[in-house]
Amino acid sequence: MQVCQEIKKLRNLLDQYRYDGKAIGFVPTMGYLHKGHLSLIESSAKENDITVLSIYINPTQFGPNEDLDQYPRDLENDKKLAEEAGADIIFIPDNEMMYKTHHATFVNVNGLTNHLCGASRPTHFEGVTTIVTKLFNIVQPNRAYFGQKDAQQAIVIKRMVEDLNMPLKVVVCPIVREKDGLAMSSRNAYLSKEERKQATILYKALQEAKSRIEQGQRSATEIRDLMEQMIQTQPAATIDYVSIVSEKTLEDIDVLEGKILIALAVKMGKTRLIDNLRLEVN
Ligand code: PAJ
Repeated sequence: MQVCQEIKKLRNLLDQYRYDGKAIGFVPTMGYLHKGHLSLIESSAKENDITVLSIYINPTQFGPNEDLDQYPRDLENDKKLAEEAGADIIFIPDNEMMYKTHHATFVNVNGLTNHLCGASRPTHFEGVTTIVTKLFNIVQPNRAYFGQKDAQQAIVIKRMVEDLNMPLKVVVCPIVREKDGLAMSSRNAYLSKEERKQATILYKALQEAKSRIEQGQRSATEIRDLMEQMIQTQPAATIDYVSIVSEKTLEDIDVLEGKILIALAVKMGKTRLIDNLRLEVN
């Protein structure tokens, strides 16, 4: 596995692979890798000749009072895990390389980014779509891998790729969970033992919603109220949102039908966690 810090070096390497007709898979991350990230690397390694992993904690997607400075890092362990999972190249740029002082260009996906996490993190998606565009331009992958864990991110990136005719396929991989259902996340490392225990309510609430819908419940309000009540039983939990939206528009729906996304963001103590469930309701 090669480690590249320079854009130029990475480009030279990838140009050669492309010249040889190799398919390039790309997995963008912010590091502190866990099994969710590794599942993306494994999918890419299966479907492509060369897998590039990027590790870059992108400052423009963090709000002013968010956890940019504390975001967990462990580069040596990440390198080991990435290699075992099948990565061929790790790209680890620094801030000076990614954002020159005169950086003035940003990518915005309108509409979709007003809802869910976009409502409480107004500048977040602009940062994500800008850095992902830059990384796509640097790596020029055939396929790029994202996790369903960040459902809105995956939907926004797919729209961006379609709208801007970016020549690659976006592959969305399932959520990888801990044994008790908690979605894996680098931010789980922030949770105290007690918060970690209480955090299992998020998956339980999603599962309860699923089972009520399977039993015939079609009122979004009823389901949302039930989920909120469940989550509020945990003293460490503060709800940011529990939303039931159309997967296409990310707008709230009243009557459950078609492809829906049940998404939530909850603070457990100071740590903001997200989770979601996709369903097709007939
Ligand atoms: P990060 O949070 O490091 O996540 C990198 C990728 O791993 C994302 O596509 C995310 O959805 C996926 N992922 C995280 N947890 C997962 C889980 N439990 N199961 C499956 N996939 C999971 O998302 C970002 O970084 C950044 O916004 C980035 C796209 C790199 C742009 O900076």
